[in-house]
Amino acid sequence: MRRRKLFQKERIAEYDHLVTYESPMSYTAEAFQKALVNLEYINVDGNFKVVQFTSTLAGAGKTTFISNVAHLIGKKGKKVVIVDLDLRKPKINRIFRSPNENGVTDYLTGKIDYKTLINYSEKFSVHYIVAGERTTAVVNVLEAQKLKDLIARLRTEFDYVLLDSPPTMAVSDALYISRLADGVLFIVAQNETKRTVINEAIQTLKQNKVNIIGIAFTQVDVKNSDLLSYTYGYGYGYNSSLQDDLDKEKS
Ligand SMILES: Nc1ncnc2c1ncn2[C@@H]1O[C@H](COP(=O)(O)OP(=O)(O)OP(=O)(O)O)[C@@H](O)[C@H]1O
Ligand SMILES: [Mg+2]
Repeated sequence: MRRRKLFQKERIAEYDHLVTYESPMSYTAEAFQKALVNLEYINVDGNFKVVQFTSTLAGAGKTTFISNVAHLIGKKGKKVVIVDLDLRKPKINRIFRSPNENGVTDYLTGKIDYKTLINYSEKFSVHYIVAGERTTAVVNVLEAQKLKDLIARLRTEFDYVLLDSPPTMAVSDALYISRLADGVLFIVAQNETKRTVINEAIQTLKQNKVNIIGIAFTQVDVKNSDLLSYTYGYGYGYNSSLQDDLDKEKS
C-alpha cells in the first residue's frame, strides 16, 4: 500500500515536464534515447514514419513517452510532429502548455487551415497538433478522408509523424487510428497491467491486422524488477517479443 502511494506521488511529479529536456543525463532520459534508437532502426528506410502509440489501459504513459521521444528526435535536427488523436482525453496541449484550440477536429470541419493547425515548440524542437474542439462523433472524425489526407501530407513534410491515441480497452478509437499508421508501438505499464489483459489487447490488434512494431515497458520498478535486469526504468521489445513470452507462459 505504501509503495503504491509513493508511486502515485512519483507519477504526479513527473507529469509536468519532459525528463529528456529537464534531465537529459538521467537514467530515464537514457532509456528514452534507447527507444529512439530502436524506432530509428525500424524506420531506416522511411517505411515506419507514421507510428501510433497505444496501451491496454489508461495512464500507461503513452503521452509522456511520445513527447520525450519526439523531443529527442527534434534535438537531433529531424522534423517530427505529434498528432493528438486521443480526442476524448486530449493531453498533448498540456505537455506543451498550450490551449486545446485549433486542432484536428477544427481542421476537419474547415474552421482552420493547415498552417494554423501546426504548432511548433521551440523549447522542445517539436511540431505538434492538438486534438481541438470536443466532438461526440469521434469515430467519424477518425474515419474521415480529410484526416487520411492530412496524415499523407504530414508524411511528406516530416521525418516522423507520431500519433497519440487512447488505450485499446475502453473504446475502438485505437483500432481506427491504427489504419492511419505504418505501425503501432504498444506501451505497457509494468506495475499496473495484468498479463492476461495485455494478451487480450494484443490479440485484438493482431486480429485487426495491426502491425505491432514494438512493446515498451514503462514505470518499471528498477529495484524490484526481474523482468528486465538491464533496464533503466523502461524496457523495449521488438516484434511482439512480449507475445512470445506470453505464449511460453501459457504453454
Ligand atoms: N515512465 C514513467 N514512470 C513514472 N511515471 C510515469 C511514467 N510515464 C508516465 N508516468 C506518469 O503516469 C501518468 C500518466 O502518464 P500519461 O498521461 O503519459 O499516460 P497515458 O497513457 O497517455 O494516459 P491516458 O491513457 O490517460 O492518455 C502521468 O502522471 C505521468 O507523469
Ligand atoms: Mg495520453
